Amino acid sequence: MPTILITGANRGIGLALSQSYLADGWRVLATSRNSSGEVASGAEQLLLDVSSEDSITELGRQLQGTAIDIIWNNAGVYLDKGQSLEQLKMHTWLQTFAINSIAPVKIAQALHANLQASQRKVLAFTTSKMGSLTENGQQAFAYRSSKSALNMAVRCLAHDYSKQKISCLLLHPGHVRTAMGGAEGAIDTATSVAGMRSIVDRANTDNYPQMNSRYYDYDGTVIPW
Ligand SMILES: NC(=O)c1ccc[n+]([C@@H]2O[C@H](COP(=O)([O-])OP(=O)(O)OC[C@H]3O[C@@H](n4cnc5c(N)ncnc54)[C@H](OP(=O)(O)O)[C@@H]3O)[C@@H](O)[C@H]2O)c1
Repeated sequence: MPTILITGANRGIGLALSQSYLADGWRVLATSRNSSGEVASGAEQLLLDVSSEDSITELGRQLQGTAIDIIWNNAGVYLDKGQSLEQLKMHTWLQTFAINSIAPVKIAQALHANLQASQRKVLAFTTSKMGSLTENGQQAFAYRSSKSALNMAVRCLAHDYSKQKISCLLLHPGHVRTAMGGAEGAIDTATSVAGMRSIVDRANTDNYPQMNSRYYDYDGTVIPW
């Protein structure tokens, strides 16, 4: 039975990802920031506050010896939604970077041995099209820059892990109707998850050169950096 670990799995896209993999018979390790965050029925719940280095280290300790085929860094925040630069506090920007840019890469590092022990060796990162320098829009300084930084950090990671044929994939989920995306989102979580899974589930150590370090939209098109 293949195993996947999903962060931020108690609601939104993370919950829908968990339900989708469970329905296909996967073992799902679902992390939530605290125990009050309910994960999908059938998933194994693990506590992880991605903004805490100690929490990431503890997760690595708990999972020692567990092979994990896909690690999906999904947890994220959009703390400056609707805020102008004048309204945006440095603390908010730094917190956004800690959660959206740094944590996913530190989690990948902490669980490197788990990935190495698996068959597929896939690192998936939920980024955003809002991190594209080419398709840059206005406002959302913290969120946009945090996702651009994530994209760059994942490219660095892909270089580091290239000898081990670990696929590092950046996925834009679309504009999804969740707490973050709002009711005005263009698609539901099921559509987003189906699209992203059709990309991520193809990745393995054989087709790693074609897929590694790509910035994908959920519909399979490649987003310009
Ligand atoms: N929705 C969209 O339209 C859209 C578009 C582009 C990209 N994305 C990206 O997709 C991912 C999921 O977004 P979503 O729409 O599902 O958002 P969501 O419904 O707001 O869910 C966010 C998830 O991240 C978790 N999280 C936030 N901070 C955390 C922390 N410090 N430690 C642990 N977990 C934490 C939340 O946990 P709590 O319940 O504890 O807060 C929650 O489970 C994010 O990376 C987001 O940037 C979303």
